[in-house]
Amino acid sequence: MSAEFSKRYGPWCVVAGASEGLGAAFADGLARRGANLVLLARRTELLEGVASRIRAAHNVEVRCVAVDLADADFAERLAAATAGLELGLGVYNAAYSYIAPLLDRPLDDALRVVDVNVRGPLRFVHALAPAMVARERGGVVLMSSMAGFQGSPRLAAYAASKAFNIVLGESLWAELRPKGVDVIVSCAGAIRTPNYLATTRKEAPGTLDADAVVAVTLDALGSGPVVVPGGVNKFARFFLGRLLSREGAVGVMAKSTKGLQ
Ligand SMILES: NC(=O)c1ccc[n+]([C@@H]2O[C@H](COP(=O)([O-])OP(=O)(O)OC[C@H]3O[C@@H](n4cnc5c(N)ncnc54)[C@H](OP(=O)(O)O)[C@@H]3O)[C@@H](O)[C@H]2O)c1
Repeated sequence: MSAEFSKRYGPWCVVAGASEGLGAAFADGLARRGANLVLLARRTELLEGVASRIRAAHNVEVRCVAVDLADADFAERLAAATAGLELGLGVYNAAYSYIAPLLDRPLDDALRVVDVNVRGPLRFVHALAPAMVARERGGVVLMSSMAGFQGSPRLAAYAASKAFNIVLGESLWAELRPKGVDVIVSCAGAIRTPNYLATTRKEAPGTLDADAVVAVTLDALGSGPVVVPGGVNKFARFFLGRLLSREGAVGVMAKSTKGLQ
């Protein structure tokens, strides 16, 4: 592990939602920095595949824990599976989303968004952060999205859940920084992950590779509450948030979510 990273965030890091896409890239990025890993997801075979590739490429230990992050007891299962390990960093990457007007889908779909994207990170932080505070060192990464900066038609519950993560992360950044724990929210635009590629007809401008998002996010840990990876996304945040009215920004999002299915 790079000496500085190890001192702040080692020796074990947890990635929630690590079986593919950005979460698998987080696992790889952390292993590159020398971290031992605890990987969480539902699809065990995919998760074990990620773990095997990482063990083969990096000299680190990897444990897999099969959990559904929508379950109320996932934190207890994580605690049981990691007893005795010093967990220095937690990345809450998993999310549930669907693309449709809110009223076109059963309420349960929106409530699942809340379970995975809102209750999940709350449970995750409550499970990991107390030991970090006691040790006066550690880090938490919450994955959010550009969709969380304003209303996003056809992504209403998802966008609202990502806004929750932005405000949660900013608040925790201020609460935990004096206790030695760094918190960052990464507000990504489009990323080339299996989930994104399955839902888009045409790549959005500024689409990034997952490895790039991971590198920017981990490098920004400790330097502020929010990071927006990518120049195009930074400009879009400025344009939507500062130059347009709220109505205008929601209108731009409505046009852009039309390209998703
Ligand atoms: N891709 C993009 O363009 C984009 C843009 C902005 C923000 N983001 C954010 O970046 C993060 C990653 O996005 P992504 O596209 O890579 O992937 P994703 O499809 O949102 O999530 C993939 C990972 O999360 C796990 N996961 C999902 N629900 C879970 C559950 N209930 N319990 C346990 N694990 C669960 C999946 O594993 P299993 O299915 O095996 O459980 C998988 O490993 C998300 O927070 C997303 O909101 C993505």
